[in-house]
Amino acid sequence: MDAMKNKFWFIQTYGCQMNESDSERYAGQLEALGYHKTEDMELADVILLNTCCVRETAEGKILGKIGELKHLKERNPALLIAVTGCMAQEWQDRLFDRAPHVDLVIGTHNIHQLITLIEERQKASDHYLAADMDIPAFHDLPAKRFQKFFAWVPIMNGCNKFCTYCIVPYVRGREVSRPVADIVKEIRQIAAEGYKEITLLGQNVNSYGMDLKDGTDFSYLLQAVDAIDGIERVRYMTSHPKDMTFAMIDAIAASKKVVNHMHLPIQCGSDELLKKMNRGYTTDHYLELAAYARKRIPDLVLTTDIIVGFPGETEAMFQDTLHLLKRVQYDMAYTFIYSPRTGTPAAKMPDQIPQEEKSHRLQRLMDVQNVFSLEHNQSMEHQVYDVIVEGPTKNDENNWFGRTTGNKMIIWENDGTAAVGDTVPVAVDKGQTWVLKGHLVH
Ligand code: 5AD
Ligand code: SF4
Repeated sequence: MDAMKNKFWFIQTYGCQMNESDSERYAGQLEALGYHKTEDMELADVILLNTCCVRETAEGKILGKIGELKHLKERNPALLIAVTGCMAQEWQDRLFDRAPHVDLVIGTHNIHQLITLIEERQKASDHYLAADMDIPAFHDLPAKRFQKFFAWVPIMNGCNKFCTYCIVPYVRGREVSRPVADIVKEIRQIAAEGYKEITLLGQNVNSYGMDLKDGTDFSYLLQAVDAIDGIERVRYMTSHPKDMTFAMIDAIAASKKVVNHMHLPIQCGSDELLKKMNRGYTTDHYLELAAYARKRIPDLVLTTDIIVGFPGETEAMFQDTLHLLKRVQYDMAYTFIYSPRTGTPAAKMPDQIPQEEKSHRLQRLMDVQNVFSLEHNQSMEHQVYDVIVEGPTKNDENNWFGRTTGNKMIIWENDGTAAVGDTVPVAVDKGQTWVLKGHLVH
C-alpha cells in the first residue's frame, strides 16, 4: 500500500522580507496538511509562487517562471500550482487567462485560506481565486520558519502613504497594526525555541500603532520587545522619514538589543521630486534625522533606497540626488530604475524618462555610492566585531559568513571551531564594496 506516500511542497518567494514571512505561514499550513519540504521543484505535489509586483522586472521574471511550470503540470496533472502574494492580488483571475495551468490565486489578506482552497481544488477540477482585501490582514497562523536563528516578526500590514510611484498600498491594503500583546507573545515563543535575532517587519514601521488609537507607537513597541529575555538582536524595517521621530531614535539608542542599523529610504535628493513622489518630507528634514541618528546611535550603519528616472527628473534634480549621497555617505544604497505601475499616479505623469537615460543615471549613481560603501567597509579593517554565524557561503563550502549588528556581512575561512548560530568575534582583514573578509578571533 502506498496510501502513505510522502507528499512534498516547494515554495519560491519573490520580493521583500514581508513575503518571506508570509511564505513561512504558507509552509506552516502545508506542513499541517502533512506535506514535507523539497528543494526539487520536479518532486513537488504543491508548488507555490509567492510573488512581488513592485517593479516590472519582478513581474516579468515571475510570469516567465509560471510559464515554465506548464510542462510539469502536463507531466503530472495532480500537481497543484498556487500563485500568491502581491502579483496575485493585482492580477486576480486574469492570471488564469494567462496561465490556465495555475490552480489557485491567493491574495495578500487570504493566506489562511490555503488549506480550504487545496481541499476544494482536490474535490473539483476548477480554478479558485481568493483575493478579498476587506477581511483582516492578520490571522493566527503557525509559521514553519525557514531559518534556525533568525526570525521575521510582522508587526503591521499594508501602507497608507500612497507614494505616487508605488503599487504596495493597492495590493496590501490599508495599514493594520498587530496588537503589542500578540507580537510579544510570538517573540517570547521564538526566544523559547532558541532564536537569537528577530526582525520587526512593516512597510512603514514608524507609523506602527497609529490605527490602534490607544497611544501605542513604535517607541513603545521597541521598549516592550527589548525587555524580552533570550533574544540577542532586534532589527526593524522599513523606516519612513516622515514618521520616524527623534523620540524613536532615542528609544533605539536607549535599548539594549535594537541594532545599530537603520534603513531609511530617501528615494531622491530633490525637494521638488520628493513632492511629486508624495513622500511628505524635505531633504533638510531627512538630513536632520540622519544627523540625530548618527549622534545618538554609536557606529550607526545607515542604508537607503533610491529611485532614478522618476517622471520629470531633470539632470539638475538627479545631480541633487548625487549631492545628497555625498552628504549622507550611506553604508549602502539599494538603487532602482523607476518602473511605471499601472494604476499609480506617476505612471500617468508627463515627462517619462527614456529607458536609456534611466540606465545611464543608475550607473552614475552606483559609481558614486560604491566609493562610500568601500570607504565604510575599509574603515572597519583591523577591528573585531561580534557576528552571528549563518553558515557556508553559496559559492564555497569552506567560506563561512555571518553578520554584524550593523548587518554587514563578513566572510572567513572555516576552521571548524564555530557552529551555525554561535555569536563569535571576527576580525576584519579587508573591506570590499559589498562584503568584508576576516578571520575568527580565538
Ligand atoms: N519603481 C522603482 N522602484 C520602486 N520602489 C517602489 N516602487 C517602485 C517603482 N514603481 C522602490 C522604492 C522602495 C523599494 C522597496 O522599492 O525605492 O523603497
Ligand atoms: Fe510604497 Fe511609499 Fe508605502 Fe513604501 S511608504 S510601501 S514606497 S507607498
